[in-house]
Amino acid sequence: MVDYGKEVKAVVLAAGKGTRMKSNKPKVLHEIFSKPLLGWVIRALESINPIIVAGHGFEDVKKYLENYPDCSIVEQKEQLGTGHAVKMCLGELKGFRGDVLILCGDTPLITKETIQNFIKYHKDNNSDLTVMSAIFDNPFGYGRIVRNAQNCVDRIVEEKDAKESEKSIKEVNAGIYCLNWEKMQSAFNDLKNDNAQKEYYLTDIIAWANSKNYKVNGFVIEDNNEIFGINSREQLAIAASVMNKRHLRFLMQEGVTIIDPDCTHISPETTIGKDTVIYPSTYINGKNEIGENCKIGPMSHLRGNCKIADFVKIGNFVELKNAQVKSHTNVCHLSYVGDTEIGENVNVGAGTITANYNSITKAKNKTIIKDGASIGSNTVLVAPVTLNENAFVGALSVITKDVEKNSLAITRNEQKEYKGWVTKKKGIVK
Ligand code: UD1
Ligand code: CA
Repeated sequence: MVDYGKEVKAVVLAAGKGTRMKSNKPKVLHEIFSKPLLGWVIRALESINPIIVAGHGFEDVKKYLENYPDCSIVEQKEQLGTGHAVKMCLGELKGFRGDVLILCGDTPLITKETIQNFIKYHKDNNSDLTVMSAIFDNPFGYGRIVRNAQNCVDRIVEEKDAKESEKSIKEVNAGIYCLNWEKMQSAFNDLKNDNAQKEYYLTDIIAWANSKNYKVNGFVIEDNNEIFGINSREQLAIAASVMNKRHLRFLMQEGVTIIDPDCTHISPETTIGKDTVIYPSTYINGKNEIGENCKIGPMSHLRGNCKIADFVKIGNFVELKNAQVKSHTNVCHLSYVGDTEIGENVNVGAGTITANYNSITKAKNKTIIKDGASIGSNTVLVAPVTLNENAFVGALSVITKDVEKNSLAITRNEQKEYKGWVTKKKGIVK
């Protein structure tokens, strides 16, 4: 892929309130696979550094962006329209020579491939302004792309300003633009709000560019899902489902067996090697790397930052978080493994718990289990603790001290036996 990082900057519009979310949180911070909508858009931009225009929940958005040192943020105090939002970036972009990509923070399904193709199209055609469009059977609500006699994009008319004849146009504005910044920046000082919504429309830059005889092109998107914008909780769930299905399809194409895609959730930030089988009702969230020939599930929960090598079994009701598991290791039933490194050929018995959290100090402590170790069922490993090579832990133990290699550690009481106790209790003495 081409690295557009230096020649292109992005502006992400994210100041809107999202009234229909009925939330105290700004819309763009609602999450899919525990990552805010805005985070998915930033991810698709790859090396292109964005300026985020925030308004509602500005402080929250700013706090979130601390995770992204290459992003900058500008405030749009009053939401006077999409054109006004971009105008807020004029200072930040002063002197920038290159192209500016404009997109929205509430379209998490946009892909890096589409963004790359779009920029390439803009550059290959020597465009001054390229606008992304989509063909919708039901274009209601969107701005319509009005083309001229030469089939070039002439202007965009918003639903609320459209004449009946324009409303029947099925080509809509996808809300993603690429601008030759040197030529286009002065458009933002010329925008007017003399329209039905009394807003400064970003879409008016198309007619503006044409009035200057600048080169305007349209780019029709292939998959309409990519520009799906979130306005409600219902749409949030739809987008999450599309994102999941898309990743499951990709994994299956890459040689992963997914027994039941209808009840499997895998974050797009998780990679899985070929011949691994994912059993039903498995939920894999966040960034994880899973190797080849593994068996995961049914009903496993990976919470992120897990690195699982080849030939590993993670079974039912097993929760993993921040864990490294080397090859040929089994964690087959009812276990919690967090902040842990597990070596090769380890057997983690049913009901093993790594007690990683100290609720008084709030510290998360680490458990290390080395190659060949074996842990009996219902064991608690109180971190920080290390089981060395081939250590053997008896069932029902509470391990608070490191175990040497090749040793058996066991903390339960010895078994006692009371002969004839049952017979006596039942009173059937003969
Ligand atoms: C906009 C386009 C429309 C297009 C549609 C695609 C305009 C005038 N219309 O309409 O042609 O079909 O997107 O989805 O641009 N925002 C700000 N500040 C503002 C106003 C909006 O940051 O002052 C942000 C919103 O948070 C949102 C995005 O810009 O993320 C789009 O705004 P919205 O009001 O939803 O635009 P639409 O009316 O959908
Ligand atoms: Ca609007």
